[in-house]
Amino acid sequence: MIKKCLFPVAGYGTRFLPATKAMPKEILPILNKPLVQYGVEEAMQAGLTDIGFVTGRGKRAIEDHFDVSYELEHQIHGSGKEKLLTGIRELIESCRFSYTRQITMRGLGHAILSGRTLVGDEPFGVVLADDLCFGEDQGVLEQMVGVFKQFHCSIVAVQEVPMEETHRYGVIEGETLSDKLFRVTDMVEKPAQGCAPSNLAIIGRYILTPDIFDILEATEAGKDGEIQITDALLQQARDGSVIAYKFDGTRFDCGSVEGFVDATNYCYQNHYVPQG
Ligand code: G1P
Repeated sequence: MIKKCLFPVAGYGTRFLPATKAMPKEILPILNKPLVQYGVEEAMQAGLTDIGFVTGRGKRAIEDHFDVSYELEHQIHGSGKEKLLTGIRELIESCRFSYTRQITMRGLGHAILSGRTLVGDEPFGVVLADDLCFGEDQGVLEQMVGVFKQFHCSIVAVQEVPMEETHRYGVIEGETLSDKLFRVTDMVEKPAQGCAPSNLAIIGRYILTPDIFDILEATEAGKDGEIQITDALLQQARDGSVIAYKFDGTRFDCGSVEGFVDATNYCYQNHYVPQG
């Protein structure tokens, strides 16, 4: 059973300045809900209820969001507005939240390694909240838990992207097992234009086996001088221990303003319940 899920949230969100000058980018709302809450809901639905944030300076609002606000609840008690807090209350009651800080920004691999203290020695999920995913029948992480139960190794979510966009992602090469499953044979972090091994891009959902931590300890800085999770996963892939899963669903890159707007429009059309 996988119970733990890491959320690396220490990044500065510079693409959203000045909005992110005094506010974590993960708290920016898609409609009336912070981006990070969508990711935590997806984890909870997959049964991953031990939520670990790898956080940093200026991110206190995330801790406050996943906590009770007694003063606010007292103020709105009996006003009919309490129902707006139902979703977040359910998360707070169903999940446990832990926090650790990434002191220096040395890349996603380093952020995940910083979360080791919250995970210990068991398989765990990783959600990059910037990638907002809506599954069809099941959430993307729940689908991946199903794949993990079959293969018992690390799982990465992948999506086909246009070849000219592959330089923005980790890209895999794999042996086809079925129309949705690939055994990874190679992976490259943000390949130069024209050098990608395929158009299967890694999306910000991972299930990792805990040996990844020792591998990350030994992983040298790679692309952009950062410790890359893609490089550590390649070590596991050399033993045939990484499966790429082409998920069912829709994904928005909320790390860009354009993707954020697309996600907002999608949610408004498909998920928004007007509050009277
Ligand atoms: C990270 C990973 C990359 C992956 C991407 C998905 O990159 O390093 O392999 O494809 O997330 O969003 P980032 O977008 O943080 O630069």
